[in-house]
Amino acid sequence: MSKPLEGIRIIDFTHVQAGPACTQLLAWFGADVIKVERPGSGDVTRNQLRDIPDADALYFTMLNSNKKSLTLDTKKPEGKEVLEKLIRESDVLVENFGPGALDRMGFSWERLNELNPKMIVASVKGFSDGHHYDDLKVYENVAQCAGGAASTTGFWDGPPTISAAALGDSNTGMHLAIGILTALLGRDKTGKGQKVAVSMQDSVLNLCRVKLRDQQRLERVGYLEEYPQYPHGEFSDVVPRGGNAGGGGQPGWVLKCKGWETDPNAYIYFTIQGHAWEPICKALGKPEWIDDPAYKTAEARQPHIFDIFKTIEGWLADKTKFEAVDILRKFDIPCAPVLTMKELANDPSLRASGTIVEVPHKKRGSYLTVGSPIKFSDMKPEITASPLLGEHTEEVLASLGYSKQDIFNLREVKAV
Ligand code: COA
Repeated sequence: MSKPLEGIRIIDFTHVQAGPACTQLLAWFGADVIKVERPGSGDVTRNQLRDIPDADALYFTMLNSNKKSLTLDTKKPEGKEVLEKLIRESDVLVENFGPGALDRMGFSWERLNELNPKMIVASVKGFSDGHHYDDLKVYENVAQCAGGAASTTGFWDGPPTISAAALGDSNTGMHLAIGILTALLGRDKTGKGQKVAVSMQDSVLNLCRVKLRDQQRLERVGYLEEYPQYPHGEFSDVVPRGGNAGGGGQPGWVLKCKGWETDPNAYIYFTIQGHAWEPICKALGKPEWIDDPAYKTAEARQPHIFDIFKTIEGWLADKTKFEAVDILRKFDIPCAPVLTMKELANDPSLRASGTIVEVPHKKRGSYLTVGSPIKFSDMKPEITASPLLGEHTEEVLASLGYSKQDIFNLREVKAV
């Protein structure tokens, strides 16, 4: 089956997570993604947090599936020459080096545009161009702090907290993928490439937009009624950390289920959706709450919402998280068990849908990865293993017209 991005050649000059997550997605959808790596070492994640000696770490394999690997020293003149050839024949170059690294290598946007005016040049940086921090190198947690996620995550009596979800890295990569696809469509109309830039700070902030909503509401009215601080606690002039409160108009909380004393994940998330109040009361065996003025409306419930959650925990005390959800789902109540990575890895539905996939790898044996979360009616992305370092060097060089002797010469000077 032909894939929508077949025929699009991408120079993948990315490393660690933000850039690789973007190019991996494009590779799943059919793009020919050539990962350019420094000879001898490659992407730093090949070696980071290894669980099998001498085999690429899962950090690398889970972010670089479906790609080719070309080793190339792009600081050597011979390497630069190869890169120039590749640029002339590619559609997209994606990079997430530290600020200025590509310019220092001699491949500024102007130079790239001169070499191939149709090429899209896509970059991830910590901060946007012209920002007063645009010289900073940035990793995930730095971005979560700079983008507003950390100050609004966690509990009010604890420090700012980092989310385990890669809001700074993979999220930025997803934004970049949207930018690249948009620029490719734009190129169909104009015939011209363009520069696409996404900053990690902006991408985190984009996901935190409801907190910017809350900042403005707070400044206008002085309180936020859906936060646990309301109505008994204090508000300052900045959006507080709200623990596990629901972020929208629906109050919710993480509630204990049977076994919570020994199992740190024996919890469900329970949402009190306004119009589901009647079914909630029925499910909990509290029909008297349905018309009680102290419970009937969301406004009436809010001052004692934590007492309500306590009552629900009483109901949950003899039910596992799975039993509880099985009962509540019949009443159309938005809820879910708190699932561990172990449970997710073994979830038959996720295996069947291709969201969790087992991939055979030449050196590791097979490993689990997260497949495409985007499902299509006409295409099933097939996940293949990440490449070994330099696995496709000869193949890519041959496709650029290099002879066996040329390749030998490049190897002699350690350019590939
Ligand atoms: N051949 C020769 N040199 C190469 C090369 C190759 N194939 N690939 C990379 N390099 C060089 C670069 O030219 C650069 O050299 P220079 O600094 O002498 O100019 C160097 O390797 C890479 O530098 P840098 O990207 O700054 O790496 P780092 O390990 O110091 O920093 C980050 C890592 C992630 C902090 C930094 O890349 C960064 O801030 N990136 C942008 C934000 C980002 O994506 N962060 C999230 C990562 S998940």
